[in-house]
Parts: sequence; structure tokens; C-alpha cells
Amino acid sequence: MKILALAGSSNKNSINRKLVIFAASLFINAEINLLDLNDFEMPIYSIDRQKENGIPELAQSFSTEIKEADLILISLAEHNGAYSVAFKNIFDWFSRIPNQTAWLDKPMFLLATSPGARGGSSVLEMAKNRFPFNGGKVLDTFSLPSFNDNFDEQKGITNLTYLENLKAKIQNIIEKLSDK
Ligand SMILES: Cc1cc2nc3c(=O)[nH]c(=O)nc-3n(C[C@H](O)[C@H](O)[C@H](O)COP(=O)(O)O)c2cc1C
Repeated sequence: MKILALAGSSNKNSINRKLVIFAASLFINAEINLLDLNDFEMPIYSIDRQKENGIPELAQSFSTEIKEADLILISLAEHNGAYSVAFKNIFDWFSRIPNQTAWLDKPMFLLATSPGARGGSSVLEMAKNRFPFNGGKVLDTFSLPSFNDNFDEQKGITNLTYLENLKAKIQNIIEKLSDK
């Protein structure tokens, strides 16, 4: 199984990047393609820019990465209750590629974490409700609250309840995908 993994953050020390790498490592025998949003920095989306210059090549490249995946694993950073600007800009650009949906009908597992007790649950809810309108098949979501209390750089998730919950969700996703 080919997994496209990314954090919805351009932060070099992104906690969502740490979480998505850890979650991806729990998929045994998967081929992981880890993307960095910093490699897809584009002008801020505007209809005028799209009309003047078309859709940037980088948006097309991002879409090609999606096309090659069997599963998309995203851990979203929450900024003021919503997507980070870095993620939203890329999403806006590739959602404008004509004659296709943004997520190309791909299965998705959405994650989020934050240092706070709500663990990015607002952005997670937003994405869970929105992505199906953009051709995303959201199989499940997982939020890790209070990242600094529940995650260790070497060991990953240290809170057993959250760890078991994540593992169960991953097992369920693997079964769903292998049924197809
Ligand atoms: C502009 C800004 C807004 C933020 N808003 C929220 C928020 O609404 N909810 C939240 O839980 N954390 C919020 N945070 C804290 C982020 O969760 C924290 O910076 C986290 O590290 C972001 O994830 P990342 O490390 O993957 O980029 C905010 C941080 C910034 C810089």
C-alpha cells in the first residue's frame, strides 16, 4: 500500500509532522511518501492570479502525488480554529485544477494534534466535513490532545489509551482497504 503522508503545517518542528510520521510507521509493509508543504509554496491563491497566470506547476505536482497514493494520511495543524495558511493555500490551488476532484476519490485518514486539550479538534471537524465535497473518502479521524504530555520524540504516543485507539483505527482502515 502506498501512503501519502503530510502535516498540514509549514513549521520546521511541526508536532503534526511528528504525529503523522509516527502514525505512518504503524502501517506495516506500507510504502510511505512523506511530503513537506514547504516544497509546495505558491503565491497566495486569488482568482485574478489564476486568470492571469493559470494554476502553478507545483499545484499540479501536488495533485500527482495524490494520484499515486492508495491512502492519504494528513495531520492538520490548527490555527485559529482552522487550517494553517500554508495548507489552505495549497488546497485552494489544487482544488482549482479542472475536470477532477481535489482528493481524486482517495481514502483518507485525518489526524490532528496541538499542545492544547482539544487536540486540533476544530480543524479536524472542519476537514472531515469538507473533504468529502472535494472527492475525499474520509475513513476515520484521530485527535491527540496535549501533544507535549502524550508524545515522546523517541517512543511516539506514550498514553496507552490514545495509542491503542490509534492502532485500532489503523487496523480497521487496513481491513477496509484490503476488502476492496
Ligand atoms: C496563528 C496560530 C494560531 C493558533 N491557533 C490555535 C488554535 O486555534 N487551536 C489550537 O489548539 N492551537 C492553536 N495554535 C497552536 C498550535 O496548535 C501549535 O502552534 C502547533 O504546534 C501547531 O502545529 P504544528 O506544530 O504542526 O505546526 C495556534 C498557533 C498559531 C501560530
